Amino acid sequence: MQTLTVNLGDRSYPIHVGAGLLERAGELLRQAGVRGKVAVVTNPTVAQLYLDALHEALANAEFEVTPILLPDGEEHKNLKSLVSIYDRLISERFERKSCVLALGGGVVGDVAGFAAATYLRGVSYVQVPTTLLAQVDSSVGGKTGINHESGKNLIGAFYQPKLVLIDVAALRTLPHRELVAGLAEIIKYGIIQDPALFQLLEQRMEKLLGSDLELLSQVIGVSCAIKARVVEADEREEDYRAVLNFGHTIGHALETVTGYRQLLHGEAVAVGMVKAVALSVQQGFCDTASFNRVAALVRKAGLPVEIPSGVLPQNLIQAMEVDKKVAGGKIKFIMCEGIGKTRFHWLAPTEVLSALGV
Ligand SMILES: NC(=O)c1ccc[n+]([C@@H]2O[C@H](COP(=O)([O-])OP(=O)(O)OC[C@H]3O[C@@H](n4cnc5c(N)ncnc54)[C@H](O)[C@@H]3O)[C@@H](O)[C@H]2O)c1
Ligand SMILES: [Zn+2]
Repeated sequence: MQTLTVNLGDRSYPIHVGAGLLERAGELLRQAGVRGKVAVVTNPTVAQLYLDALHEALANAEFEVTPILLPDGEEHKNLKSLVSIYDRLISERFERKSCVLALGGGVVGDVAGFAAATYLRGVSYVQVPTTLLAQVDSSVGGKTGINHESGKNLIGAFYQPKLVLIDVAALRTLPHRELVAGLAEIIKYGIIQDPALFQLLEQRMEKLLGSDLELLSQVIGVSCAIKARVVEADEREEDYRAVLNFGHTIGHALETVTGYRQLLHGEAVAVGMVKAVALSVQQGFCDTASFNRVAALVRKAGLPVEIPSGVLPQNLIQAMEVDKKVAGGKIKFIMCEGIGKTRFHWLAPTEVLSALGV
């Protein structure tokens, strides 16, 4: 097991990464100072695979466990699911010192985290992420929330967990397409901060795609460490944390335009990253060799590099303009200055358009 720390003063917390950690959950929660009852928020898909093992591990450490199941799917990251958690916490008489544990992907993590942030003005909260995306991204950093009919993640809070427990063995049951989508975020960390990680991905992609747990543990650890350092520097995304949105400006627009049905988040981000590097080359920030490496690595992972046919670049621009990162008609972009280096840059929609066809 490797352990990292997110250093945020009295809200600091450990991230444990390893295979088989679910079985050690009781001991690790005790170690992190968790007391009282534990509500395990999950969904039927994940519950069927991992709830019994987690329940047993927690019961062995004398935790009283209340499972709370939400329906599976992004469309259930909503107020109704949130209310169903509150209802159970209230009927089971959960108190200030009780704990909410999220067992699942980013959907479960975001809703459970927001419930923990708001129930009784905040109870302690543990993340046990089971998708690659949740293990390298959503479980770390304290962004919690739900969607509103008018848009994604419109309601939420910054609320840090007490502990993140990453059992890489859970990735064995993850559908391959979900694994690949998670790889997009790992590639992102390489591009924004870490040439050595990028190179490792170039050299060992086949092994990662084959779910080599040792290698997955290694790259998950490196990814979480990068995210932890960014969050430590700018917890509430005043400025610098936005670097984690590399590839997401175009990626989010693609998700919106395709109605969130055609592409998984990681797939949209993959296209977004390739286009953001193309844009960086066009604007004179980045060399062509770096662009070629990014496009090749994204392809090697089995991720898309092109905007799906039928999606009009003008519609993408429109979607970007309603996104948050727009001022004075210009869109805030994270440009790539070669592998491992980024900078912010404001671009007019016409300048963006010209790169989308590259
Ligand atoms: N809070 C943050 O900082 C942050 C960051 C990135 C993304 N997110 C959010 O995360 C969500 C996406 O998360 P996701 O990609 O994990 O999707 P998800 O939670 O929907 O999980 C994907 C699918 O995999 C299933 N699953 C989960 N673990 C499994 C396992 N081990 N084996 C088999 N199946 C398993 C789930 O039941 C689901 O069907 C979005 O709502 C996004 O907004 C949040
Ligand atoms: Zn993302």
